[in-house]
Amino acid sequence: MIMLKSADLSRRRFANIVVPVCEKSSVTSEAKLSSLVDDALSLPEFEGARGDLLVRYATGGIKAERLLFIGLGRVKQVEEEDLRQMAAKGVRRAIELGQSKVAIIMPDKGALKLPRSRQVAAIIEGALMANHLFQNYRGKEARKVKPLTEIEVLIARNEVNRLRSVAEKAAIVVAGTLLARDFVSTPPADKVPATFATMVEKKLSEVAISVEIKDDEDLAQMGFGAMLGVAMGSDSPARLVVADYNPAGATKTVVLVGKGVTYDSGGLNLKPAEGLKDMKSDMAGAAAVAGVLYNVGVLRPDVRVVGIMPLVENMPSGRALRVGDVLTSHSGTTIEVGNTDAEGRLILADALSWGAETYAPDLMLDMATLTGACVVALGQDIAGIFTPDEKLARAIKNSSERVFERCWPLPMPEDGKAYLKSDIADIANVASHRWGGASTAALFLSEFVGKSRWAHIDIAGPAFTRKNGSYTRPGGTGFGVRLLCDLLFDEESTLKF
Ligand code: BES
Ligand code: ZN
Ligand code: ZN
Repeated sequence: MIMLKSADLSRRRFANIVVPVCEKSSVTSEAKLSSLVDDALSLPEFEGARGDLLVRYATGGIKAERLLFIGLGRVKQVEEEDLRQMAAKGVRRAIELGQSKVAIIMPDKGALKLPRSRQVAAIIEGALMANHLFQNYRGKEARKVKPLTEIEVLIARNEVNRLRSVAEKAAIVVAGTLLARDFVSTPPADKVPATFATMVEKKLSEVAISVEIKDDEDLAQMGFGAMLGVAMGSDSPARLVVADYNPAGATKTVVLVGKGVTYDSGGLNLKPAEGLKDMKSDMAGAAAVAGVLYNVGVLRPDVRVVGIMPLVENMPSGRALRVGDVLTSHSGTTIEVGNTDAEGRLILADALSWGAETYAPDLMLDMATLTGACVVALGQDIAGIFTPDEKLARAIKNSSERVFERCWPLPMPEDGKAYLKSDIADIANVASHRWGGASTAALFLSEFVGKSRWAHIDIAGPAFTRKNGSYTRPGGTGFGVRLLCDLLFDEESTLKF
């Protein structure tokens, strides 16, 4: 579908060519193309500024029906994200124009400061993410808008072989992202825990990852009292999905835990209308973990990676969890429920303590749409990083910048645990006041991770969107998949373990 290729621009015919252009400068030296770039730059409506777009038809010299010139901004300031957005813009416009094919020109070697491999990866990521539409629930008419069937990235002949594996890897990482997007965008009635669990199992079996699905009887035996408490109000029973990639000879183990609340009504602490609207996305952490495991199945790294996805639906009913109930978690710690809408931390408490005990991981990460407070603190586009391990926080932040899934570290003040005291149980699931809610949630989780090296990433803001982004559309964003793949499997990751 996407190919890294070389092509003779003066000979071949093209439907659409996407040409990146910098302010006042061409980044391609191909003679015919660069004179067309000069023409484009001489027009008042196109300056090559970041995001500029100019479409020209059947232009002399090159046999292309359309040329899409897209601005990258100042040549010295071009970053990976500009390339992602450039490729995405070209693909989006081609889709809007009813096209099925585009060729994207790679900037010349040496034209930009970025390493070649990062440039190729960025262009492929942007193009593939922009080419994804979630159409499972559209009628016939709307399905006439179709993703492109062929995307070529054109590069000099002598570079093709060296960069092919980079291109392939970028495409793999995007596949997991798109999988996570689709899971999140799926309506909640169609992904109740048992259904979602089999969806994940089916996808992971495609890439030879073994999955175990624990039902509520198993969970009772395992002592998952906190998670089962959340599930009580729903007619759809809980499931725990455990995906274990354990290659021969692996010496390190990473455990990934993802919050999988397939619908968060709040429970008896029912959310108001506005709050209910996006709550099908409350399983985005689990979706991201499934996406990472999917990529792991293809990338086959030499570390053991275990994905743990606790799945529940949080509903009010005559059988629902009450405010005031006390639950006994897997670790044995008893939890007084102060608010049934703080359900994410309850299911994570069991999953984290079971993950730490069962696998004794070298690293444990959890991703969760955990708190509205994190969105208040950092906005809709940035996730919160919580960990007592500063080096780990820095490595996550680093990867987040590289893939442009933005994260920012937030504090976990030790003395804040005092606010989680319960009069009758070991701990309460909400603090006695509402301030700094993202941090209190993280402090609560920290009680259940044992001695593991651990970080929690609160993705409540960026996991889901209602507007079009450069390469996201309304719905799930797949946030976290590229981040974790970079952190765990990229040679340039600064994570050491
Ligand atoms: N799933 C929500 C958090 C959330 C809010 C995700 C907005 C995405 C967008 C979570 O379960 C929740 O309801 N948290 C409460 C906690 C409170 C009761 C302590 C919140 O943030 O209000
Ligand atoms: Zn909630
Ligand atoms: Zn929730």
